[in-house]
Amino acid sequence: MADDPAQQKKPEACSFVIFGVTGDLAHRLVVPALYNLASKDLLPDDFCVVGVARKAMSNDELRTGLLRGLHEFATRPVDDAVARRLLACVTCIAADPNVPGSFENLDKQLDRLESERKSGGNRLYYLATPPNAFAPISRELGRCGMLREHDGVWRRLVIEKPFGTDLLSAKALNDHLLKVADEQQIYRIDHYLGKETVQNILVLRFANGMFEPIWNRNHIDHVQITVEEKLGVGHRGSFYDATGALRDMLPNHLFQLLSLVAMEPPARFDAHAVRTEKAEVLTAIQMQSEAEALQNSVRGQYTRGRIGEVEVEDFLKTDDIGPDSTTETYVALKLTIDNWRWAGVPFYLRTGKALSAKRTEVAIKFKQAPFAMFRPTPVDHLSQNYLVIGIEPIEGIALQFNAKVPGPAFAIDGVEMDFRYRDFFKAEPSTGYETLIYDCMIGDNILFQRADSVEAGWRAVQPFLDAWKNAARNGLESYRAGSGGPEKADELLKRDGRAWRVPVSTAAAPVPAQRMQQIGH
Ligand code: BG6
Repeated sequence: MADDPAQQKKPEACSFVIFGVTGDLAHRLVVPALYNLASKDLLPDDFCVVGVARKAMSNDELRTGLLRGLHEFATRPVDDAVARRLLACVTCIAADPNVPGSFENLDKQLDRLESERKSGGNRLYYLATPPNAFAPISRELGRCGMLREHDGVWRRLVIEKPFGTDLLSAKALNDHLLKVADEQQIYRIDHYLGKETVQNILVLRFANGMFEPIWNRNHIDHVQITVEEKLGVGHRGSFYDATGALRDMLPNHLFQLLSLVAMEPPARFDAHAVRTEKAEVLTAIQMQSEAEALQNSVRGQYTRGRIGEVEVEDFLKTDDIGPDSTTETYVALKLTIDNWRWAGVPFYLRTGKALSAKRTEVAIKFKQAPFAMFRPTPVDHLSQNYLVIGIEPIEGIALQFNAKVPGPAFAIDGVEMDFRYRDFFKAEPSTGYETLIYDCMIGDNILFQRADSVEAGWRAVQPFLDAWKNAARNGLESYRAGSGGPEKADELLKRDGRAWRVPVSTAAAPVPAQRMQQIGH
């Protein structure tokens, strides 16, 4: 995990082999992230990038395409000298796992290149491909001995979500990968762990002594995890129709947030200890029966609407979406974690597309004060105590609490202590992949998902998938694009006497009179 950049060391010599180099992920994220690392001088001195494509292409052709992508997707102005140096390391090799002999040839060409470039035998295979290519490519890498580590030479395999589409397929993928490589060699990327604000949850909890004593069922009433998006499904219709909001976001991104918030303190800050605690807490999510899953979930589809100036088409009329599709574009769930720390503390999770705003946050709601001193003030007129971890677009941490309104009368109002990253740190805009790619090269897998936590995540959501499949359209809500999601999602909390947090910026302003309760003195 990234240290202070001033202290970051260059990784050892290696080859960075990108499968699917002509695709979107390579152009949009991987190469711009390599560029950002190059501009910080954080790539190995002896380094080569090998783009593997199914159809042969010249080095120049590949370099030109990557440079075009870099200009389009770079997060900072492109320095031509840095770009030229990086692209000079790029070689294109054609290989197709379905063509006999293809990977033997790839291996030979890599060996030759590595001796020319003096990049040694260390290799990072980055599978920037559609998920259905994970198995055939890794099978061929395994069959040709290209994942074998020997005499200090390492071989690593990087893949990116989705890791399966349900518990069974996730297990099958893990079984397959673990036949060709050791767990230590596999880097499963969840791009949420590349976000500084997400990594900071660990620091917030474990580098500060004051939170741990109150981080439990005695003081925390419940936890809300919200990932709201403005974008609809756009051109990803066929992927999305087969996926839906739950598969796309819950067992991966939202569970990363959940596990960081809810895990026990690891004994050490190393990959084994951190990943073990994360897997442990996911395993402790209480399994629900199908009936409970229906009771504790809300799913919805967006209908035509407007988000700002943009007109959004009805989900069911979007290209590549079946007219009878029951795929959800919104989901809200209530989960509980069956362990000593969290027994009885609900975790409410929600995510959806085509909503009124982009917002990703974790809101930790503390229990109400007993009000002994302020008895004349009705409980529901006081502001709630939340610790809010803002991931996007607000990157920061806020604490909401009550304060006395200045003046002769004893009035109370909710106020907020607000830390914003941008006020304290000067971070250069990044793709979010720099830390992840750098960590793959230095062999630190703290920020990557282990097989057991992938499976624990799917296990926890499987009852919802099963229940919805059987319920078909029953219980599938609709919501207008540009709204806050289905109203039923509010009821999920309301019936427990709770409500979703309303961000202060969108809460009514000026302060409503009833929140300024006079309590006399
Ligand atoms: C991806 C999903 O993994 O995450 C997308 O496939 C989603 O559907 C995206 O839009 C959200 O990521 P972020 O970083 O914008 O919250």
